Amino acid sequence: MAVLLSTKPAAMAMWRDALLAVDPSLEIRMFPDAGDPAAIEAAVVWTAHDMAELRRYPNLRLIVSMGAGVDHLLRPPGPPPSIPVARLVDRMLTTQMGEWVLLNVLRFHRQDLAYRAQQQGRVWEELPAPVTAETPVGFLGLGELGTHAAGLLRGLGFPVLGWSRRPKQVAGVETFHGADGLAAMAARARMLVCLLPLTPETRGVIDARLLGLLPRGAFVINGARGGHVVDADLLAALETGQVAAAALDVFSPEPLPEAHPYWAHPRVVMTPHAASITIPASAAPQVVENLRRARAGQPLLNLVDFSAGY
Ligand code: NAP
Ligand code: GLV
Repeated sequence: MAVLLSTKPAAMAMWRDALLAVDPSLEIRMFPDAGDPAAIEAAVVWTAHDMAELRRYPNLRLIVSMGAGVDHLLRPPGPPPSIPVARLVDRMLTTQMGEWVLLNVLRFHRQDLAYRAQQQGRVWEELPAPVTAETPVGFLGLGELGTHAAGLLRGLGFPVLGWSRRPKQVAGVETFHGADGLAAMAARARMLVCLLPLTPETRGVIDARLLGLLPRGAFVINGARGGHVVDADLLAALETGQVAAAALDVFSPEPLPEAHPYWAHPRVVMTPHAASITIPASAAPQVVENLRRARAGQPLLNLVDFSAGY
């Protein structure tokens, strides 16, 4: 039996080497060279893979996302019926995202955009000192990534707020849930950090209504998926000053078209979906363990809940 990999060729080679380092007995196939479809028992795939194609493998027993997100796997037509899907929960993914959030919170908190503009104009002028304890950071999503990033900011003395689907307690974080909870949190969040999964409920959550609830001059930081943001609404809020600046790692579509206004916007800081990149050597052990569990009929690690959509 074999494991099918599907992503960019260079990354597939890294995945192959990482999986074989954990279990040299694995047989690895790299899409599109799947060989005999009946031999494929697991598919480890990233965003470009066509879910309809996975219906070709009669003995498939496990699908694994090469990242933390699974929206690409669940969108129609979705995975083949009754095949479980697992995602990655990985220390290196979590660490990188924490760093990216920290980078952008501190960039905005310490007025870095303004100081860079001053440097361009050779302007020597001190701006008012920021007060960390008076700068609440609100997280949309308090899961693996959100909880970790929230902890880093709390450690620096920022008041931290967090919104989740279900009521939740996280040490040192003031938590919210539901539509009323979102409104209450937004009203206080000087910075809004999105680390939600993209689901039908969360698509377009960062819209004119939510942006309008933020304190004037708030900052938006999106490390989750482009589909969470209504781009026209964010651009309008940047125009009026309701949002002072935004840091965006994810876009819809990706790559972002060259003509998109974000590219040249003086108050948008972009990265090319690089906030947190899967490192196969770090993630491979859980994939091999999940294959072992799938073969043994045991509960899988990091199983996706289809009804919740993440
Ligand atoms: P996770 O552990 O599943 O956490 C998701 C969080 O979102 C949970 O707190 C969940 O609430 C909350 N949530 C889900 N639906 C909600 C809703 N309708 N209303 C309110 N809260 C809701 O996910 P994760 O590992 O932290 O990853 C989050 C996302 O980050 C991924 O799905 C992926 O899209 C994105 N990501 C991006 C990059 C990048 O490089 N840009 C890298 C990795 C991941 P509960 O706690 O109640 O379940
Ligand atoms: C990256 O976007 C991931 O979901 O891991």
